[in-house]
Amino acid sequence: MSETPKARLLEPSTAKIDNPPLTTQQIQQWRNEGFALVDGLIPIDLVDRLLADAAEIFPNVGSNEAAAINDFGEGMTFPSQSEHFNNLTLHPRLLEASSQLLNAPTPALRLTQSDLWPKYSSALNDDAFDNQDQRIHMDYPNHTLTHPSKWEEPEAVEIIVYLSDQTQVGGSTAVVPRIGSDDEAYMPPLVHSTGIGDIPWINNRSQAEDWFYRNKPEVAELRERLYQREKYTQYRKGSALFYRHDVWHRGTPLNKGTVRFAQNLTFRKAEAPWINTLHPGWAWAMYKPDQRMERLIAKLSPEQRSVLGFPAPGDSYWDRQKVDAVEARYGAFGFDATPYREQLSWTGLY
Ligand SMILES: [Fe+2]
Repeated sequence: MSETPKARLLEPSTAKIDNPPLTTQQIQQWRNEGFALVDGLIPIDLVDRLLADAAEIFPNVGSNEAAAINDFGEGMTFPSQSEHFNNLTLHPRLLEASSQLLNAPTPALRLTQSDLWPKYSSALNDDAFDNQDQRIHMDYPNHTLTHPSKWEEPEAVEIIVYLSDQTQVGGSTAVVPRIGSDDEAYMPPLVHSTGIGDIPWINNRSQAEDWFYRNKPEVAELRERLYQREKYTQYRKGSALFYRHDVWHRGTPLNKGTVRFAQNLTFRKAEAPWINTLHPGWAWAMYKPDQRMERLIAKLSPEQRSVLGFPAPGDSYWDRQKVDAVEARYGAFGFDATPYREQLSWTGLY
């Protein structure tokens, strides 16, 4: 990366210490260009603890098991056995930042993705699914049933929290900034990527571009211009890249002999259910012997619960009987029904 011109490096900017955490500049960059790389949002000790959990779960770099892993989509998912993973997923500052970007209060957000996976440099292979040097793409096709809404009315924010340091492992995320409303790269419909319509899903850059040159030469030329416009994240441990399902981006190769850990998240607006939850529903974990989901529900704040789809205090869902029943279900784990009950008494329903 040393020969890359400075203008093409995307350095992180620092979040505010107090809340709300994002600066006006960070919000504007996300709204206009489609991304913001932010440091100082998540406490570094939480990042360290999560990294230790991940290092225990996944094979060591250089091991045979690591070499056998095709690192795409194999990882920890929410709700995890690792409480640090769950705590990062629903960290109040991450929620606040998402709420700023989507211009919607936290209880009007929904979590639809939280997974953590290792990318190993040793996983390099020559097949179409190779994940080292990804083709430029957007993420919306396997998140939404429809098509991204108008640029000015985003329905979701996508996040990569890096648990490793770019100076040590490489693996920058390349992003293509949107330049105004007549940017050729961002003209809808957004269909010039692999896995859309009659274009086969190919992950590897050279194989994907080879396909475009043979089958859709005019799209191949557009895509070549996208690669020329890329900026590369200079992330540090704990940096968060906020981007969108309709932003051109891709993963780039790691340094030899390294592994990179990153957590991927999406928060959508509550009124956009066509953006799907990527994992089994959260309640599917309710019968796990460690009762991780029950314990989590009990200890979360009402705002954090809302993001999982649990009705907020004051929601028309609640009546006296339901509050009592939910309290009976989760009381043993320390669930406090007061905020839900208080709202009922204010509305005269209790
Ligand atoms: Fe992606």
